[in-house]
Amino acid sequence: MGEDILLTGQLVDFTDDPFSNPFEECALYERRGGIVLRDGLIVARGGADALRAAHPAARVVDYGDGLILPGFIDAHVHYPQTAMIASWGKRLIDWLNSYTFPEELKFSDPAYAAEIAARYLDLTTSHGTTTMVSFCTVHAGSVDAFFAEAQARGQRVIGGKTCMDRNAPEGLLDTAQSAYDDSKALLQKWHGQGRLEYAITPRFTPTSTEAQLEAMGALWAEHPDCLMQTHLSEQLDEIAWVRSLRPEARDYLDTYEAHGLLREGGLFGHAIHLEPREIDRLAETGASVVHCPTSNTFIGSGLFDMAGLKARGLKVGLATDTGGGSDFSMLRTMAAAYEIGQLRHAPLHPSQLLWLATAGSAGAIGMADRIGTLEPGSEADVVVLDLASTPAIAQRAAQAGDIWEALFPTIMMGDDRAVQAVWIGGAPAAG
Ligand code: GUN
Ligand code: ZN
Repeated sequence: MGEDILLTGQLVDFTDDPFSNPFEECALYERRGGIVLRDGLIVARGGADALRAAHPAARVVDYGDGLILPGFIDAHVHYPQTAMIASWGKRLIDWLNSYTFPEELKFSDPAYAAEIAARYLDLTTSHGTTTMVSFCTVHAGSVDAFFAEAQARGQRVIGGKTCMDRNAPEGLLDTAQSAYDDSKALLQKWHGQGRLEYAITPRFTPTSTEAQLEAMGALWAEHPDCLMQTHLSEQLDEIAWVRSLRPEARDYLDTYEAHGLLREGGLFGHAIHLEPREIDRLAETGASVVHCPTSNTFIGSGLFDMAGLKARGLKVGLATDTGGGSDFSMLRTMAAAYEIGQLRHAPLHPSQLLWLATAGSAGAIGMADRIGTLEPGSEADVVVLDLASTPAIAQRAAQAGDIWEALFPTIMMGDDRAVQAVWIGGAPAAG
């Protein structure tokens, strides 16, 4: 048995969803709180003095006024787009063709894939993100690189080979059969290895034929405990393209539903311009949608209806969508979600923003019992925030009347400088 480690500081955690209940009833706050880590798990949570008394042999790491939180969970990213993040001046389809596909072609080289996987996980760790659900590229080597790097770090990550059999450069295309075969081999190699999980990953309907989506649906039926990730209704041009490619479909979601790709465990990125039937079906089936706010403003996609979709009971995760999103930071992502809420006249409370980046994303990816929480028994992935990381933030936080007002300037103005420490699987990873 490993040693007990007691982390002390301020502490916020959630016991329920602050979109469904008053946030005061959902959030747990300790001015002087802590958690005890043992063998990669959290074994106790509570007031610092009580924990010290109950665990006298524990090694204490005191973060002072630092705010102890569950590590951030980024529910939709493309790690291969790390090196082309913040590419200027295009909208979705042109952006894919001009910037994304040329970069993804480089992943035919396993050495390049390994370099970017390590760079991406370094960057995200320094920003306090401990779990992400990533698209890889069409190349099996890009999946191996991502999982091998995460495994070496003891990190819980989810990833999958991006499948495309049309409307992309020759070097990024597979076929229905090879997508099935390669995805299956990768799934068998990596799914359930330690903290790694596989997600079946058709990119989106414009780049997958019916035959390929059918093959992905068959693979998912054979491996029902996997996640499935794709894109849905991000831009109006994209939706019109889907309509012309699949005129028989009732709507965009139907192009997935027709092939067994709509059920719980399905993660639909963006989901901005939804038809009433699509919202009904997402709600009925228990599938999840993933809000990518910095991407939606950066690529000019539109304003996600957080309040409306949460009110319908949809599971919603939060994500950077690196590199369509313009920042690796989940703080910046929360800020963008707030700004989009403002534009829709439905501002989000800081507790709702923080919940989305932790327990909300964990619930959307079906892992709420393991991550996104500090509850005893869960995995010890933790971020500690300095709520006074810059002079601008510090002078505003000094005026705060409660923890939410103290946290909000860091959500709106914070970056990796606000990340005081990161623990992954019970071991220090940064700070
Ligand atoms: N739709 C299909 N592929 C992508 C991608 O890589 N990024 C974004 N933002 N949207 C997509
Ligand atoms: Zn995406």
